[in-house]
Amino acid sequence: MKTNPITSHLLSWYKGNARKLPWRETSDPYKIWISEIMLQQTTVNAVIPYFERWIKIFPTVGSVAQASPEKILKCWQGLGYYERARNIHKAAKIICTDHDGQVPSDPEKLKRLPGFGAYTRGAVLSIAFDQRHPVIDANVRRVLMRYRGLEGYADNSHDQKIKEFLETILPQRNVRSFNQALMELGALICRSKKPSCLVCPWNGSCFAFQKGLQDVIPTPRKRVTTQ
Ligand code: ADE
Repeated sequence: MKTNPITSHLLSWYKGNARKLPWRETSDPYKIWISEIMLQQTTVNAVIPYFERWIKIFPTVGSVAQASPEKILKCWQGLGYYERARNIHKAAKIICTDHDGQVPSDPEKLKRLPGFGAYTRGAVLSIAFDQRHPVIDANVRRVLMRYRGLEGYADNSHDQKIKEFLETILPQRNVRSFNQALMELGALICRSKKPSCLVCPWNGSCFAFQKGLQDVIPTPRKRVTTQ
């Protein structure tokens, strides 16, 4: 399979521009899992100290499984959406009883664990195990809506088309970098406001940039102002 040129452009850009983040120094599926759950409703900068503390207190799946619910919630305190922490605790117990304490690399086994929805499965399978799965979060959705000229609000109604396109450009190897590179492009370059199109590795073939539509794709949400 020949690598698509935009895949190579993105991977080279990521090599030179990836932020150094604590969960990028490991491919331990447990640590990738925890980081991806924390990152779901919380910003990267807010997650960093929580992630580092969590991993110090709970270095393994087993240490999570053995902890009391109070200790789990105390370590999560401040991150919000506490269902995430309760699901981590439940899943850790199942991983210890059914999977020898190892996060499974089989999509069907992951699917049965609490808190492992499509996003989390794709992220863990690609980032930890380098399996070829697309991952669509808010940043990735915005990047691909602009690149492909998918008009409308940035909601999951575009995800099927985005997924089909991603299947055609996902590399055969180094999917772990490719998926994180797309998230990074959305966070650093293809921001929702004032994107830096002039330095984007995809500007040569981006629909929105070519047509000057980057400020209206996706459709901006009206800001609710209070007085
Ligand atoms: N947001 C979700 N997953 C992420 C990751 N692995 N790196 C940076 N931001 C993210």
